[in-house]
Amino acid sequence: MRLLKLLLLFVFVQVSAQQGGMWIPSLLKGMNESEMKNLGMKITAEQIYSINKSSLKDAVPQFNGGCTSEVISDKGLILTNHHCGFDAIQNHSSVEHDYITDGFWAYKMEDELLNKGMVVSFVVRIDDVTTKVLEGTASLTEADKQKKIQENIANLTRTSPKESWQDNMIKTFYNGNQYLLFVTETFKDIRLVGAPPSSIGKFGDVTDNWVWPRHTGDFSLFRIYADKDNRPAEYAADNVPYKPKYYFPISIKGLKENDFTMVMGYPGTTQEYLPAVAVEQILTIIDPTKIELRDVTLKVQDGFMRKDNAIKIQYAAKNATIANAWKKWKGEIKGLKKANAVGAKQQFEKQFQEKVNATGKQAEYGTLLADFEKNYAEIKDYALAKAFWDETVIRNGELLSAGYKLYQLEQLYNTKGEQAFNDRRNTLINGWDEFYKDFNAAVDQKVFEQLIDIYSKKYPKQFLPASMENINPEVLSNEVFTKSQLVSFDKVKAILLGDAKTVIEKLNNDKGYQVTKAMADAHLKNVAPKYDEINLKITATQRTYMKAILELFPKNRIFPDANSTLRVTYGKIKGYKPNDAVIYEPFTYLDGVIEKYIPGDYEYDVSKKLIDLYNKKDYGVYGVNGRMPLDFIATNHTTGGNSGSPALDANGNLIGLNFDRVWEGTMSDIYYSPEICRNIMVDIRYVLFIVDKFAGAENLIKELKIITPQKKK
Ligand code: ARG
Ligand code: GLU
Repeated sequence: MRLLKLLLLFVFVQVSAQQGGMWIPSLLKGMNESEMKNLGMKITAEQIYSINKSSLKDAVPQFNGGCTSEVISDKGLILTNHHCGFDAIQNHSSVEHDYITDGFWAYKMEDELLNKGMVVSFVVRIDDVTTKVLEGTASLTEADKQKKIQENIANLTRTSPKESWQDNMIKTFYNGNQYLLFVTETFKDIRLVGAPPSSIGKFGDVTDNWVWPRHTGDFSLFRIYADKDNRPAEYAADNVPYKPKYYFPISIKGLKENDFTMVMGYPGTTQEYLPAVAVEQILTIIDPTKIELRDVTLKVQDGFMRKDNAIKIQYAAKNATIANAWKKWKGEIKGLKKANAVGAKQQFEKQFQEKVNATGKQAEYGTLLADFEKNYAEIKDYALAKAFWDETVIRNGELLSAGYKLYQLEQLYNTKGEQAFNDRRNTLINGWDEFYKDFNAAVDQKVFEQLIDIYSKKYPKQFLPASMENINPEVLSNEVFTKSQLVSFDKVKAILLGDAKTVIEKLNNDKGYQVTKAMADAHLKNVAPKYDEINLKITATQRTYMKAILELFPKNRIFPDANSTLRVTYGKIKGYKPNDAVIYEPFTYLDGVIEKYIPGDYEYDVSKKLIDLYNKKDYGVYGVNGRMPLDFIATNHTTGGNSGSPALDANGNLIGLNFDRVWEGTMSDIYYSPEICRNIMVDIRYVLFIVDKFAGAENLIKELKIITPQKKK
């Protein structure tokens, strides 16, 4: 009995150890493929990625640079998240046509809405070009080496074979230890097809974001249009729906705990191989600072948005973006602490050092850990100052961010002269109505006041501009927002009139510009150069450390950090135990929406139509035993960028749509644990139920290839 238990435990540990990691689709054969089969996968690595035949990867384009989507019909219909399509949905919305609130459905193709600037990008092929990228770099110093690498990359990107309508892109993996070339195809005529009301697509909004149990129907539909040769083309009325190389069949056969799942998509950034000292710095200094600056921003914006519908529309997307990372960092701190990630890293580092010594690699790798200690100690204040810069001027302060654009304009004049100045000024003016359309000076004044208060008190003293010492934030923000010309599009246009000298003089007399300039000078002159210098050393150390890990621990499952390239992650549908005495099940149902329903609420309102369907249990073929499945979780290792990623079953059929992770597990960007890290997906049956029963968009349902429990394929 005891033995059996031990054996079972062993099997369990083995199986859970086979999860985590975001793997390169062209390199799955071998270890990954056999792990996936062990976990239950029925298809082959060749079916996922092939250069000879159509394969799953042909149906997984990156969506508009930051998200993922999947092709689900032979007419180029793609599915992604509501929050990925949200900018587009917002752009088509006004107080009269409020698609954010009411949703949008194209019942015929003519009704689909064009989205300027939107793109989706397919991977055609992946090739290893490491040797070519590193050619001629062996004996160079660090700075020269980086320069040569960039040159080689530029050359290869230009000269590697591809079709005229395709692009080459080279990305580094394992921190500069491997380089892969991606041939891609980017489509530019992408139209909005459908989006549920926010009360479905964003149900629970900020409060439920990153949280399980979840009841969000986070999806939207778009369509790819191509020219008559099925190639990428700019928008044209006579473009035709794209004929994909592959599209996903959709399975509504049902799911159960421990079923195999995999997710394909474009995860953005992870930092799984940071040393303990770096994780400690994130945990105790960087995350808390960024959180504090966003706390105040969000509180102010929220207060205005709840009271004023026009402001709610203006700030909806910005506010959601700010809140998103803010909440993730909070979960990350909690998770890293609870999992004792720093301790685990220290443990590994002890092993690492022993291995270095045992293999006689002291000369090559002996000082790496000490170098990390030294470099991170040195960068500490600079990194803190950079966090302030990012979260005040670049992100949360809107007048400040506008001021910074003007600061760059002044710099441009100083370095490149009048012509460059004129070109940039025109670009600024042309682009700025978009920005000011969603800018509210009353909101930003309050945000500004709070931000500079913290800035003046907690920015590292040695870099703090004299003009920002001992300020009265209320007085200063009042002065800035009553006097500055940066508070509206008309005023900013006026200040930009005239020859360069005049404009720059006017700018330097502007109170808002003066504050920005003081902050920008502090950052760009006293912080950034030194930060970059130390960071270059850290990057080099990290690269060697990564090389050493690959070399000294060949049996470990070592996947490359995310870098916005196509990856495959796999695992099982599974609940988890977030806290003592609490167990979470892996599935939610529409019942939970009704439980959370607060009539008229900002986050938890439910539309009457959905309530009616619920009361009648009118779920069509999508319900099971009188209940409507909604979201589910699994052990797939995902991160930002995986939003909209297809969740696939053992046969490679679409069963869901990735959109989030659980809060207790957001530390997986730095430290993945199969115990607690879960990705959250919308059940595809809920998506179809909304399209079919809620929206009545039969035109779309007819395009899909649906595998039902009855007619087994
Ligand atoms: N947390 C998810 C992600 O990182 C969803 C964000 C969008 N949802 C929201 N309520 N802001 O993108
Ligand atoms: N919501 C995220 C995104 O937009 C995905 C969730 C995550 O970070 O895991 O990419």
